[in-house]
Amino acid sequence: MVIKGLKGVAAAETAISHIDGVNGQLIYRGIDAGDLTKNHSFEEVSYLLWHGEWPDQHQLIQLKNELKKQRGLPDYIENLLISLPAEMDFMSVLRTAVSAAGPANKEKPSYSDAIRLTAMMPTIIAYRKSHLEGRAFVRPSAELDHVENYLYMLNGKRPSESQCKALETYMILTMEHGMNASTFSARVTVSTESDIYSAVTSAIGTMKGPLHGGAPSEVIAFLDEAAKSADIEKLIREKLNRGERLMGFGHRVYKTHDPRAVALKTVLLENAGKDAWLDLSMKVETTAVNLLQELKPGRSLYTNVEFYAAAIMKSIQMESELFTPTFTASRVVGWTAHVLEQVENNTIFRPESEYIGRLPVK
Ligand code: ACO
Repeated sequence: MVIKGLKGVAAAETAISHIDGVNGQLIYRGIDAGDLTKNHSFEEVSYLLWHGEWPDQHQLIQLKNELKKQRGLPDYIENLLISLPAEMDFMSVLRTAVSAAGPANKEKPSYSDAIRLTAMMPTIIAYRKSHLEGRAFVRPSAELDHVENYLYMLNGKRPSESQCKALETYMILTMEHGMNASTFSARVTVSTESDIYSAVTSAIGTMKGPLHGGAPSEVIAFLDEAAKSADIEKLIREKLNRGERLMGFGHRVYKTHDPRAVALKTVLLENAGKDAWLDLSMKVETTAVNLLQELKPGRSLYTNVEFYAAAIMKSIQMESELFTPTFTASRVVGWTAHVLEQVENNTIFRPESEYIGRLPVK
């Protein structure tokens, strides 16, 4: 029997994260991911995902220093980033650069590889962006932590505390999400005893597809339409009556509120202050949820992570072409945690297929 898309099939055991779609909970190593964003940094949560426990003070300082040390790109990668055609999209650039950065090693994937891959991702994005804009690249600052440094490299100035908090919350909440398609790709690649750079290259290629890393750009288009409309309820009702899907609503696994959307909304309310985009988002959410209950009863459709990610990206003025690459710069932590877990107890992935073609004529 073929199970299309492996829907409902458990492909591996993992101790890294758990998604409870019925109760709307995402758990990282036994801890509620929404709670993690309140008092923990990108670095601390990365350590937790990689090791299964919190770092002590010394381990945290070591990790931060190592991430800072590994941020720089070798000259040949910088040259590659400026020589790739200008029309090449950011995800293809990331995939190519990560692939090129991998040493031709046959060593077992290690924690230091995971740190290097995580450290270099924002630099690749910022370097390529500055090149496309024809301005000098703002080199990483050894004084800044991971998320703050990313915004600093992109904008050439230190971000405000609220911008940092908004992006850090987004990046923590999108680091890991069970056996999603890109994580599965990474595990399949490394299950052949290939290297971690190849695994992350596979994962980026998978993330690039609109059904996975589609990112919040479609939500932004929907909210832009709502901003121009004199009657939001009429606009949404007409969309639903035409059979259109509301972007940023519904989820395959969460049949209640997506906990990541809830956490993102909370951080926006706490940090953004009075914000026209946030007000609009909340108005659209309330109107849409009411209409979905009326017109799609029993389907349990609420906002998903993409909906409030759009508001986060707006609040930090991130350009839409950087949405999926930024998602990738956080998800690399989950991918590498899964790669390390896979190699600890490896079995090559080798499913069957059901042949439906012709047989030789006897
Ligand atoms: N707007 C309107 N109706 C919807 C929506 C939506 N956003 N999502 C689902 N429905 C309806 C469907 O029309 C269907 O109705 P029907 O029973 O009358 O035919 C019912 O709900 C079930 O739809 P399915 O497609 O079976 O639901 P599924 O859980 O498989 O879909 C998905 C999940 C693909 C995310 C869907 O909700 C959707 O298309 N949402 C809009 C796009 C979006 O926001 N994507 C980002 C997802 S988050 C992420 O990927 C990180």
